[in-house]
Amino acid sequence: MQPTINPDSTVLVIFGAGGDLAWRKLMPALYSLFIDHWLPDHFAIIGLDLKQLSDDEFRQHLRAGVDQFSRRGKSDDAAWKTFAAKLTFVSANFADPAAYSALAERLGKQDHDWGGTVTHIYYLATPPALMDPIAENLSQAGLANDRARARIVVEKPFGHDLASARALNQALTTIFDESQIYRIDHYLGKETVQNILAFRFANAFLEPLWDRRYIDHVQISVAEQVGVEHRGGYYEHAGALRDMIQNHLMQLLCLIAMEPPVSFEAEEIRNKKMDVLRAIRPIPPDHVDRFAVRGQYGAGRIDGQPVPAYRAEPGVAPDSRAETFAALKLYVDNWRWQDVPFYLRTGKRLAERTSEIIIQMRPAPHQSFPSAVIGEWQPNRLVFNIQPAEGILIRFQAKQPGLNMRLGPEDMRFTYKEAFETESPEAYETLLLDVMQGDATLYMRSDQVEAAWALVLPILEHWAAVAPDFPNYAAGSWGPEAGDVMLATDSRRWLLPTFASRDPKTPDVEKNG
Ligand code: BG6
Repeated sequence: MQPTINPDSTVLVIFGAGGDLAWRKLMPALYSLFIDHWLPDHFAIIGLDLKQLSDDEFRQHLRAGVDQFSRRGKSDDAAWKTFAAKLTFVSANFADPAAYSALAERLGKQDHDWGGTVTHIYYLATPPALMDPIAENLSQAGLANDRARARIVVEKPFGHDLASARALNQALTTIFDESQIYRIDHYLGKETVQNILAFRFANAFLEPLWDRRYIDHVQISVAEQVGVEHRGGYYEHAGALRDMIQNHLMQLLCLIAMEPPVSFEAEEIRNKKMDVLRAIRPIPPDHVDRFAVRGQYGAGRIDGQPVPAYRAEPGVAPDSRAETFAALKLYVDNWRWQDVPFYLRTGKRLAERTSEIIIQMRPAPHQSFPSAVIGEWQPNRLVFNIQPAEGILIRFQAKQPGLNMRLGPEDMRFTYKEAFETESPEAYETLLLDVMQGDATLYMRSDQVEAAWALVLPILEHWAAVAPDFPNYAAGSWGPEAGDVMLATDSRRWLLPTFASRDPKTPDVEKNG
């Protein structure tokens, strides 16, 4: 991880610039970087898309996105005017080599005007099928050669399964050096996710507790209240396992389970995460149901409002087999974590929007206190709330005030909101600045992507072969009963999101429905 310095002169070329990602995420992030003075003086964005738009139409469209989605609220007229002057649009067919020679000419002219060393970033905000041909065309036009200055950013999904991810890696690495390829997992750019590294490795008190002797199990829950929204077409071919677990949740697991890095160099961090992926016990193909659960939401209520079943959403087949919920039990077979279960779950249309990692400690080895003084007894727990509460919590037993000895659980909380005056940057701000600076620490390396696919492969294959009994959970619940059963067989249960100002003394058993 580099100290943040302003990047060198940069041209960012966005393939698929007329799409949703550029509108909702990339442009609001770039605009924030601009108003916070992170962009170099010489900076330009060329948007490429099949759509026919003038520069002005493109700018107006993007401004509407910034106004709607930027964390800074509506754009300021004067600032937008200066920023918009950096944006141009080119209508292009990505399969047409002529589009790339025109791009090469344009970039050459820009480089000349700016006096030489300019970083060219090719951002592929396109469907996976287009990535290979775009890379090939960039190469043919001589745009991929400069190892130090030409970079390619690849959005997820990176492949559809292990074979397609391998094929894409193969295609990209015959053209680009691995150091030029930036595979995005936007969870890694989240401030609270980066803080897991800081909390674990910049503090000494955790390390002696951070293993199988003191930790009973780990729960990683990424719960969404939204349904599939307007993305039925994509989601039908993805499902929760591909969409969230193979990438975001696996990466969270890596950050919790990895060994202390020797340095914060990109390769060192990635190596340590790779060690975790290599240590995860493969799921036996004939026992998938013991380790993985899938679900799909039926109709239900969110915040008291009725919402439709997944199968009634636009772009979704009436007999769809796509899972909107997935839960996994994984083991990391190494000295530190042997036999400590890591429970992962994610789902759409769940009861709350919250992403939380709960480290559940083992109970105190001996209870010196008579049972009469213990109220609601719970083992210690450490909680990272990734969003929306953004914070860290430690639950511990405390003497309750009074003349008698009486114990009960209490929470010690750290929240970003209270601790810091400045707002956290969006994940895409961090990631875009990193690629401009040539820092790949928060990006995925080819071996990580493939290892994560290899781990979910037996589940994908089993689920493809066996028809599911969908829908099996109501929108607004905490997912299918089978998810609870998976933990109950281990004499455990999913813990309710801890951070959402719940009284620590209320028993945190989830109620479905
Ligand atoms: C994306 C998934 O990668 O992450 C979406 O494709 C999901 O389905 C989204 O909604 C969640 O991201 P965040 O940042 O809102 O938690």
